Amino acid sequence: MREQYNLISKIVSLCKRRGFIFQSSEIYGGFEGCYDFGPLGVELKNNIKKVWWDEMTKNHENIVGLDAAILMNPKVWQASGHLTAGFADVLVECKKCHHRFKEDSEFLKQSHNKCPDCGGELTKPRKFNLMVKTFIGPVEDEAAVTYLRAETCQGIYMNYENVLNSMRLKLPFGICQIGKAFRNEINPKNFVFRTREFEQMEMQWFCNPKDADRFFNYWKEERIKWYLNLGIKKENLRTIEVPEEERAHYARRQVDIEYHFPFGWQEIEGVHNRGDWDLSNHSKNSGKDLNYFDPSASSGQAKEKYFPHIIETSIGVERSLFAFLCDAYQEIKGGRTETTEATKEVEIMLNIHKSLAPVKIAILPLVKNKEEIVKKAREVYQMLKSHFMVQYDEVGSIGRRYRRGDEIGIAVAITCDFQTLEDNTVTLRDRDSMRQIRVEILKLQEIIQKILKREEFLKLGKPIK
Ligand code: GAP
Repeated sequence: MREQYNLISKIVSLCKRRGFIFQSSEIYGGFEGCYDFGPLGVELKNNIKKVWWDEMTKNHENIVGLDAAILMNPKVWQASGHLTAGFADVLVECKKCHHRFKEDSEFLKQSHNKCPDCGGELTKPRKFNLMVKTFIGPVEDEAAVTYLRAETCQGIYMNYENVLNSMRLKLPFGICQIGKAFRNEINPKNFVFRTREFEQMEMQWFCNPKDADRFFNYWKEERIKWYLNLGIKKENLRTIEVPEEERAHYARRQVDIEYHFPFGWQEIEGVHNRGDWDLSNHSKNSGKDLNYFDPSASSGQAKEKYFPHIIETSIGVERSLFAFLCDAYQEIKGGRTETTEATKEVEIMLNIHKSLAPVKIAILPLVKNKEEIVKKAREVYQMLKSHFMVQYDEVGSIGRRYRRGDEIGIAVAITCDFQTLEDNTVTLRDRDSMRQIRVEILKLQEIIQKILKREEFLKLGKPIK
């Protein structure tokens, strides 16, 4: 157990040291449950979002995108069930210091049901709603109350009919969205695993109720494939069929996709059959008929009218990013064999899928005091930087620079050396295999595209023994 927490603290430390993730408002002592993403973190996050977006909108037919506002009419949350008991944690409160704790937390068990902070007596358990309240307009009264959205999908339901009509869609079809969500989590924990502000990537698949079970299974399989294709180790992934009493208030069926974090198996994505919970409740509460008139009725027959059922896939950006980091993090004791410097140390390596790597290429002049080599390396940098995320690095020995790149998962290192000046070729070094090939500068762009698509590295240039 200790070793596992040690691993988390190493990953947290790497994230800070190399500019992935910082504590929010750090100079004021931080702000619990909130994190900031640094230069590499934001690249990684954007890559995850792009891969997910492309998967939904390009690799699947009939899925369109949306970007709805975070703030909505509070009636949305009344109708969705989020303001009632369904979306709440059960808490106890200390009568003396008023700190609150989850009823089933380890803390409480260890403090024998006294306040873990001051030893005070605790109240009976009661439900505490997770919606983050805010006030809109100049007066802070009840009329001005609204909420920061707790799930992005409600914005999709609000626009279900707009999208259906404007895009001339027919069932089945999907609407996907990426955006911020907020929850007043009483117990944010495990770094970016559970936070109060986070992003979700959600896809809502609208279908004929008759097809819901089939599509549920289809989407569950599709989502598992997505993680495996992005290199998540099979043994670190599993699905759990959530029993009725533990399901979200809107779910008829729920499968959680779990990742084996160093602190245990935890949900990273939910696949839900929401049935007609959302559309029927919004119809009832808004007075707007959100039934679907099925045009597939044969001539002479009345058109069938029903609420489409919704299959939802819902994944957290930061939570999946954390899973990708945990899966990719490796320590190689004694270092890898390419430099003598490395051999005595532990080498850190981020073996992350190349499409997610925050920086794709390192450009390295072999030496920094040979003007022509530096000039050439700068030219290669200029040539590639509008196509890929590229880093120029001339500080330290070549071995040290390789290692700095490996630590943040840079996919390919390009070295300009004396031979470059003679024949306009450079050395490419693959992060994972450490194998090297020699290629012409003019072909670099095309070859790097192939490397990122995981074509066989040694076949892309002249292998160096
Ligand atoms: N619309 C359905 C929905 O929101 P959920 O299971 O509550 O379902 C889906 O959330 C995903 O959102 C989770 O699997 C997780 O990845 C992410 N998520 C939820 N709460 C989170 C939190 N407090 N911090 C970070 N990610 C969170």
